[in-house]
Amino acid sequence: MNRQLMCVTCGSTYPLEDRRLRCDCGGLLDVQLDMGGAPSPDALAATFESRLSSHLPQDLSGVWRYRELVLDLPAGDIITFPEGRTNLYALDPTPLGLSALWAKHEGENPTGSFKDRGMTAAVSWARHQGARALICASTGNTSASLAAYGARAGIPVFVLIPEGHIARGKLSQALAYGAHTLQIDGNFDDAMHAVEQLAGSYQLTLVNSLNPFRLEGQKTIILDSYMQLGRHLPDWIIVPGGNLGNTSAFGKALIEMKALGLIDRVPRLAVIQAEGASPFARAAKDDFHHLKPMRPETIATAIRIGNPVNYSKAVRAIRFTDGVVTTVTDAEILQAKHDLDRQAIGCEPASAAGFAGLRKLRREDTVHAGESAMLIITGNILKDPDVTIALAMGETAGLGVAGAETLGSCTNTPRHVSSNVGAIARIIEEVLL
Ligand code: F0G
Repeated sequence: MNRQLMCVTCGSTYPLEDRRLRCDCGGLLDVQLDMGGAPSPDALAATFESRLSSHLPQDLSGVWRYRELVLDLPAGDIITFPEGRTNLYALDPTPLGLSALWAKHEGENPTGSFKDRGMTAAVSWARHQGARALICASTGNTSASLAAYGARAGIPVFVLIPEGHIARGKLSQALAYGAHTLQIDGNFDDAMHAVEQLAGSYQLTLVNSLNPFRLEGQKTIILDSYMQLGRHLPDWIIVPGGNLGNTSAFGKALIEMKALGLIDRVPRLAVIQAEGASPFARAAKDDFHHLKPMRPETIATAIRIGNPVNYSKAVRAIRFTDGVVTTVTDAEILQAKHDLDRQAIGCEPASAAGFAGLRKLRREDTVHAGESAMLIITGNILKDPDVTIALAMGETAGLGVAGAETLGSCTNTPRHVSSNVGAIARIIEEVLL
């Protein structure tokens, strides 16, 4: 299928090979798929399914397995670990009165977050185009992912991160994989502004989700879930929102799946933001008349973003899916994380925002009893050990989160014991007998 770049604001088109990040009008660009001559939905699904028995790297990837809807690249140009193929876990739907509840665990990707799905597409395309170096702004996961894919592609990487506001697991990955790591005295939005100015100079390729090829990879979260559910999607898809790349990618995936006849009914998207970093939710209240950037603050550092670059694409996603946008407090995020962690789903704080949001939407009866929902678990529990340990050990007071003091009762602290077998046995008896 042919592709070109198309502006989501004015509709201008550019060749796919054009290295521009935005339209001349300033609008965001889409990779637009020409669906003329597309295979039938059954033929497409059969192709996707058949690749499960292949051992080729591009078929083993849960991104390139769907390449007809991602990008057409020679196999030799693809930089893959492989990624994707994450599990879809069934959770107990009864406490929320739902008919089914799924958790799509994107934390199971090679660098521990959904970013790998977009990064394989963006870095493969950048290498295909002969990029000299790669750059991104990040709250942590994008930098970890880019550091890994850049190392694998043999292309130098620069990452800009907000000093003091990035979880340790993510910082450790960027450093260990050899990325040139620049900690800036500003937040993610400041870093994003800087990298957009720099992109294009020195043959640097920007791989934030402003890069439309990233979103083509991230669409596969939806395609993968659809195939895992036997060519179905639930009534609701719940995703945390920061820079709104996933929201935009999911909207585009659903628009294309509907146009291709893969789905008849469009699931509703629910985007969940932390209250202290909720410009999209505020804009939604005003029917998206305008986006008012805010100074972001939340314990969920991954979504500590006040001026999301993908705003116009995310609005399109909400409109197309009859979606909703809501906020949750940091205390609600921590409670949801605790509850997911205890089910051994485990995730970083931003990912738990989705579960907290689903609870709120059920309380308000926006999500109705008997409906089905899927949570997108965006990042691995190992990303943010500081918050995880504080929460597990009931030391939430130290996190400085209003309303989280009561979570101190969720304690599971390690107990000091001598190596004497009798002493250990006494503790086991205390628990079991
Ligand atoms: N969850 C996690 C774990 C994330 O890392 C991010 C974004 C989001 C949710 C929000 O996704 O931006 O597509 O709305 N992290 C970016 C980063 C900003 O730099 O790692 P979004």
